[in-house]
Amino acid sequence: MIEEINKKLDILELERIKEILPDYIHKTSKDNPPISESLNYLLEEEIAFKDNRAAEGIIKASNFPFRKTIDDYDFSFQPSVSENQIRELANLSFISNHENIIFIGNPGTGKTHLAVSLGIEAAKHRNSVYFITCHNLMQKLNKAQKENRLDKQLQHLAQYKLLIIDEIGYLPVDHQGSNLFFQLIARRYMTKSTIVTTNMPFSRWGEVFSDNTLASAVLDRLLHYSYIIRITGNSYRIKDKIVESDSRTNEYNE
Ligand SMILES: Nc1ncnc2c1ncn2[C@@H]1O[C@H](COP(=O)(O)OP(=O)(O)OP(=O)(O)O)[C@@H](O)[C@H]1O
Ligand SMILES: [Mg+2]
Repeated sequence: MIEEINKKLDILELERIKEILPDYIHKTSKDNPPISESLNYLLEEEIAFKDNRAAEGIIKASNFPFRKTIDDYDFSFQPSVSENQIRELANLSFISNHENIIFIGNPGTGKTHLAVSLGIEAAKHRNSVYFITCHNLMQKLNKAQKENRLDKQLQHLAQYKLLIIDEIGYLPVDHQGSNLFFQLIARRYMTKSTIVTTNMPFSRWGEVFSDNTLASAVLDRLLHYSYIIRITGNSYRIKDKIVESDSRTNEYNE
């Protein structure tokens, strides 16, 4: 009988059920649970397995620089970040509402970490996600324009449910690049969510984008429906150095 069932499970591509069924039958042979309970359990297992596999595929293609989660983030080190707010965002209603998130703060404060962790949550719920630095995005768009396929490239980048653009502000964007950047943001406006990270206050985006008018137009669209998360603490990268130098300072003071 099990062979017959296995053939049918193969046809339906129910891999997980096929894997756990013999053991399940064995374990439940004494209790004989109601068929509805068994069916529900087996289907839940199959769904969880497929969700997990889909998420792994999305994460693989997402171009994340590392894989870190919200649980990996030490909120006590960075009290300016509200754990409640981040966990609330992890419920992903910002994606269904087509809202944006802007992480703004100094180097090493965890902007990329938090952006990636929300991206992973999004992927776990089968949302398409793509991560790219602002600099690489500019190269991609410039190249596409040179090769006469800008529209296709913009269309491709506009279809991700969540696009994470990291490191706005570290490298200047020329006028041509700003124009392309604006086109992408305009396409995603009110239809898709974008997370950006930046070290630059909004008042200085005119410098970043070599053009005040384009910078305002970009900001206008990004900020219209958005959560702005300002991180004001110290760099996590050099936290031990700060403690060291603090204690050294204390030594010198004594
Ligand atoms: N509060 C934190 N708890 C745990 N790890 C953290 C925290 N903040 C940062 N990190 C870790 O420190 C490193 C630097 O963080 P991250 O890359 O997110 O900083 P950033 O704000 O993006 O900096 P930059 O502006 O230089 O890109 C990462 O490995 C990240 O996981
Ligand atoms: Mg970063």
